[in-house]
Parts: sequence; C-alpha cells; structure tokens
Amino acid sequence: MAADSVLIDRFGRVATDLRISLTDRCSLRCTYCMPAEGLDWLPRAELLTDDEIVTLAGVFVGCGVTSIRLTGGEPLLHRTLAEIVSRLAQFSPRPELSLTTNGVGLVDKAEGLVAAGLDRVNVSVDTLQPERFLALTRRNRLADVLAGVAAAAAAGLSPVKINAVLMRGSNFDEAPALLDWALRQGYRLRFIEHMPLDAQQAWNREVMVSAEEILELLGRSYSLLPIGHGPDGSAPAEDFEILDGPGRAHWAAAGHERPRVGIIASVTRPFCRDCDRLRLTSDGQLRTCLFARDETDLRGPLRAGASVAELTELITVAVAGKQSGHGIGSGSFQQPLRPMSAIGG
Ligand code: 5AD
Ligand code: SF4
Repeated sequence: MAADSVLIDRFGRVATDLRISLTDRCSLRCTYCMPAEGLDWLPRAELLTDDEIVTLAGVFVGCGVTSIRLTGGEPLLHRTLAEIVSRLAQFSPRPELSLTTNGVGLVDKAEGLVAAGLDRVNVSVDTLQPERFLALTRRNRLADVLAGVAAAAAAGLSPVKINAVLMRGSNFDEAPALLDWALRQGYRLRFIEHMPLDAQQAWNREVMVSAEEILELLGRSYSLLPIGHGPDGSAPAEDFEILDGPGRAHWAAAGHERPRVGIIASVTRPFCRDCDRLRLTSDGQLRTCLFARDETDLRGPLRAGASVAELTELITVAVAGKQSGHGIGSGSFQQPLRPMSAIGG
C-alpha cells in the first residue's frame, strides 16, 4: 500500500489498481459481448480528452494508485494511445502500465507502446481456429491477432498474458489446445468465466462454463497443482502449476517462471473481498465495481474547474462506498446499466 493511500473502503480494501477505458468502440464483435451491429457508441463530446485522462490519472496516482491498465472497448482504436502511455509513465511514483487488448493491429503498435513505457499486455485469444474466430468475433482477424501477440512478446512484454472466455457449444472443447499453444509460445494463459455483462443480457448461469468444468476438462490431459492467487493475493486468477501435459516440455521459460495456467472464476469463486480495483469509463465516470449500478461523475467537476483536492474528495467518498461484492448469486442481482465494452475489462 502507498503510504499516502486515501482510497480505503468500509471493508478495509485499498484501491491501488485503476482501469481506464479509452473508448467503448471495438474492432471485433464478440458474440458474448455485443450484438453484430455494435452498440450506440458514446458521443465524442462526452469522451474525456487526453489531457483530461492524464489529469484524472494524476489525481488517482496522488491518492495511492500504483498500477494503471488501459482498456476499452478496444484501446488500440484510440489514435494517441502511445502518447497517453508516455504521459502516464512520467508520473512519480511511476505507476505500472498495462494494456488489455483484443490484439487487432497490435502487430504494428507493440514496439511503439513499449518505447512509450508500456510494461505489460493482456491479449484476448478465445480460439486458434480461424473459422471459429470468425464465428465468435464476427471478424476474420485471427492471423492479425496472433501476429500481434508474437509482436508483443518480441517487443519485450513477456510473459504476454492471454485471456480466454470459454463458451459452451463454441470454444469450450478448445481449452486444452489453447493451453498447449500458450505453453509452447511462452504465454501465460488465463481462462475467464463469462460474466453477466453482455450488452444483449443473454448471460445464463447454466450455460456459463464454470471454473470447475474447465479444471475437469484440463485435468484429462494435464496434471495441475493449485498454487493460489498469485504473489500479492489480489490477483483475480487462481493459478495452477502445470506439472505435466502437452506443451509442458516446450514451455518457453518466459521470465524463467514455472509454467502455469490461471482461472478467473469471477462468478463461481468471487474474489470481491480482495478487490483492489477502480474503473474510469471513457466518459469520465468512476465505477468502484464492474457490477456497480451507480457511478461518480468526474468529468463534470473536472470541466467545471474542480481542484485536485476537490477531485480527491469525490474519489475518496466514492471508494468509501464501494459495494462489498457483486452478488451475482443473489435473487436481487441486476446487471449493471453499462455493458462490459463500455466499462473496460
Ligand atoms: N465476461 C467475461 N469476460 C468478458 N470479456 C468480455 N466480455 C466478458 C464477459 N461478459 C473479456 C474479453 C477480454 C477481457 C477484457 O474481458 O474477452 O479478454
Ligand atoms: Fe470482443 Fe472485447 Fe471487443 Fe467486446 S470489447 S467485442 S469482448 S474484443
């Protein structure tokens, strides 16, 4: 925890990780995320400018935020992404800077982003089969995505983290093949349970592929040893060391880590108690939880000339009121008003 951290909630959780959504637009149309025709994108005038993003990020760093992740929609669609990265890298103390991307166009941008100060990247790869990729994302971009992942690793962003969402009747059977591929390439794979954050509100607990099912399927060809929740305990992925199985012998020893696979079981094994995250939407609304149904407007006060002290106060009060958990299992659960693509992953 930063000595000057003021971002503590009623449950004693300290917020140190800020996710900034740079745009709600996307270059793909993943079926589990949004409809084929896309969504009503936020109007430009409502989006934060780069200066506003950097100013707000600076206030968060002053409050104790030590890591900033840029997300979307698809953050690579933001034309001045590298400039934003280099401006964020100038804060003191310098936050760790990471990116969550679908990988489309990353092949041309990875090097520039690293030069700008990017430290880590997460790329979504749900399938390695071109036809399936087309069916899942409604775009024929698998080769581009895989080239982007390779470029990120070559640019020094190792170990590249790969996110995969498994959907029943679609790519569920591919979990072992994805792991084999990731091990051979030296990428860190994490499976994410599908969450009720899709714009179509089609999520269904019975259809969702659970952590238990993923482990059962992987267990048929892999020997896995549970090793907990990562070094700082707040990492959402539950990690498993791979003792044996396809690709294990070819693990490319990225960073000389032991080979492992992660499972982010947000639905069936929630980690809300250890959550250290905050989210800033591209239109300047602070969300203290992915599943929050209320937001704190920072754009309005910022544009009205609020001081750093006033913005700090707004953020502090919002964090203090952070909900204890998402309550997906409870009867009263309601999906948040914004879909995942407008909140950021
Ligand atoms: N549930 C879980 N993960 C999701 N993602 C997008 N929508 C959902 C959802 N409803 C994933 C993307 C990407 C990351 C940002 O979140 O595939 O890996
Ligand atoms: Fe797919 Fe992410 Fe784009 Fe949604 S925001 S369509 S999950 S790439």
